[in-house]
Amino acid sequence: MKYPKDTLTIMTELVQIKDANNLGNLHGGRLMYWMDICSAIAASKLAESPVVTASVDNVSFHEPINVGDVLTIESKVTRTFRTSMEVYLEIWVHKDYGKRKVKSNDAYFTFVSLNNEGKPAPLNLELIPETDHDKKLYDGALRRRQVRLVLGGRMKVEDANELRALFFHDK
Ligand SMILES: CC(C)(COP(=O)(O)OP(=O)(O)OC[C@H]1O[C@@H](n2cnc3c(N)ncnc32)[C@H](O)[C@@H]1OP(=O)(O)O)[C@@H](O)C(=O)NCCC(=O)NCCS
Repeated sequence: MKYPKDTLTIMTELVQIKDANNLGNLHGGRLMYWMDICSAIAASKLAESPVVTASVDNVSFHEPINVGDVLTIESKVTRTFRTSMEVYLEIWVHKDYGKRKVKSNDAYFTFVSLNNEGKPAPLNLELIPETDHDKKLYDGALRRRQVRLVLGGRMKVEDANELRALFFHDK
């Protein structure tokens, strides 16, 4: 048994010229790279095994991030399934030498636990949501999983019972 806080991973990065485009803004791809690393660490804390990124949900960048800004990326596992788990990330930008802290974006990544042969391995571990925020994330995770599996062509829309409940009132 584990709690989401057991997987909490916080990564801090200073945005340097090599990370930015000609306008001095952080490349989106560089931020995605840091997000992937931070969330993979959170996932492997849960799984205690190697993990691989299975999917990344829609990511929107709300706030330009400039050279000299400091970023913190916070990741934690929200819910486990058979071999996969969902990780929630929040990205904060510390501007003007820390005088202002603004949220850049958040995101959900899905990771799969692997065995020594590199095949998906059952997690066999219960994740217990503790705080109200953890419980909210946990409750929404099944619905988000079905959305991404349907969009990824891995689940038939008629099998997505959580989504049916949202859109249809079956008798
Ligand atoms: C992800 C991967 C391990 C799935 O392997 P697979 O042979 O399809 O195995 P399965 O069908 O048993 O699926 C394993 C889990 O992955 C999940 N999964 C697969 N594709 C997914 C997707 N697009 N979104 C979310 N979860 C996904 C399945 O739902 C399943 O989860 P569950 O066991 O908790 O129900 C495999 O597709 C892979 O290795 N992909 C490449 C990963 C990679 O290289 N990532 C880095 C990209 S740069």
